[in-house]
Amino acid sequence: MMKRRHFVKGAALVSAAIVGGAVPGVRRLRARSAANTLRIPRLFEGTRLTAAPTTAQIFEGQATDIYGLNGTYLGPTIEIDRGQEFVATMENRLPEQDLILHWHGLLVPSAMDGHPHQAVGPGLDYEYRFTVDQRAGTYWYHPHTDLITGPQVYRGLAGLYIIHDEEERGLGLPTGAYDLPLIVQDKQVSEGNQLIYELNRQEIMRGVQGDTMLVNGTPDAELLVEKTRYRFRLLNAANARVFLIALDTGRPFHLIANEGGLLPAPVEVEEFYLPPGGRAEILVDFSDDDTDARLSLLSREYFEEFFPGTRQGKPAELMNFIVGGPGPVPPALPQSLASVEPLREEDAVRTRRFRLNHSSQGHTINDLSFELDRIDFTVPMNELEIWEFFNSTQNIHPMHVHGVQFQILDRNGSADNLRPEESGWKDMALLFPTSTVRVLVRFTAHPGMFMLHCHNLEH
Ligand code: C2O
Ligand code: CU
Repeated sequence: MMKRRHFVKGAALVSAAIVGGAVPGVRRLRARSAANTLRIPRLFEGTRLTAAPTTAQIFEGQATDIYGLNGTYLGPTIEIDRGQEFVATMENRLPEQDLILHWHGLLVPSAMDGHPHQAVGPGLDYEYRFTVDQRAGTYWYHPHTDLITGPQVYRGLAGLYIIHDEEERGLGLPTGAYDLPLIVQDKQVSEGNQLIYELNRQEIMRGVQGDTMLVNGTPDAELLVEKTRYRFRLLNAANARVFLIALDTGRPFHLIANEGGLLPAPVEVEEFYLPPGGRAEILVDFSDDDTDARLSLLSREYFEEFFPGTRQGKPAELMNFIVGGPGPVPPALPQSLASVEPLREEDAVRTRRFRLNHSSQGHTINDLSFELDRIDFTVPMNELEIWEFFNSTQNIHPMHVHGVQFQILDRNGSADNLRPEESGWKDMALLFPTSTVRVLVRFTAHPGMFMLHCHNLEH
């Protein structure tokens, strides 16, 4: 009965979070082994995004040293309508380090994109102002500072950037308390509740991974759900780990959006890969579940043979849903969602090849490691290109391109090797060891300098 009371209390907190639009990021939590109510990041208000060191009560006992964004581990969720202007001042109040924020997945002028050469020193600000003009979807923001993006994200600097549009609003998808973000991360945590970020040779090769899972900055997170349909927006904000998201019972759910927004129609899946930097939106219907039923969201084991001795591919429990009382009867699942104009291979005017490898200097693309001021290639606006990524290594490389949303053409020569989470518009392409992925890319939004890189933050 103790337990039951805890769930009810959890429910109250969650709905308060939605109605008020603001939840204190810091809340007393239970022991690490017991369940904690899933935190929901509050919404962005005003125009300031301030990064500064602080502490957060993430675990029971000792507070954790973090980098806060407006005071919390994981920054506020920005929600905006297509067509609106976004204005924000990033305030770097971190000691002795540069900072710049990048709006991952957004099509913005290059001066607004958070290229590392735009980073500002401690005590300085960077002004962002741009008009949002792209499909509704779940995007995000995080630092993009040269050489220290990894530790900055690891210590808490990241947040969601959600765009809405008319088409999406007309679909009758779950909203409000039934539309919730799930930001998934893995951490290495010390006895004293501190986040351990250590780079040795092995970590530079594999990326920093941990065995403590956080969802929205909550360990052992639990969400009390009503018996109705929910829309969950998943973001993998881990530094290096790829998750294979599933429900523990193997029960199917509907994938409705990838990185670039809604798919043409919901797709029933049992699992999907979510690489670092990746997003997916799913519908999970609890209408027919029993009260008090418990469902785990987890990362399934995959490709174990590739990664002996690492956490990559290891199974992990992410959080639990506890089924509570009745909720609104959901409308019929929409048969179609949003139009996705398919790009066609035969319209491509050229192919570029990118070979992912490593050398004594670290990870390389076409034998070059990243340099701030070197421009590697120039892409004409409005021309459709095929980009072929060949991963010659035994590491996973989640590739990301700024300034564009692309479509995935095939893997290892066949479109049959693509999964539903690789359909629609994408800004991530997942390169498993020794594999090739081809994508169709056309820059139409803004000219300027943009980056292509792997989203393993240690790579
Ligand atoms: Cu998510 Cu270059 O970034
Ligand atoms: Cu990589």
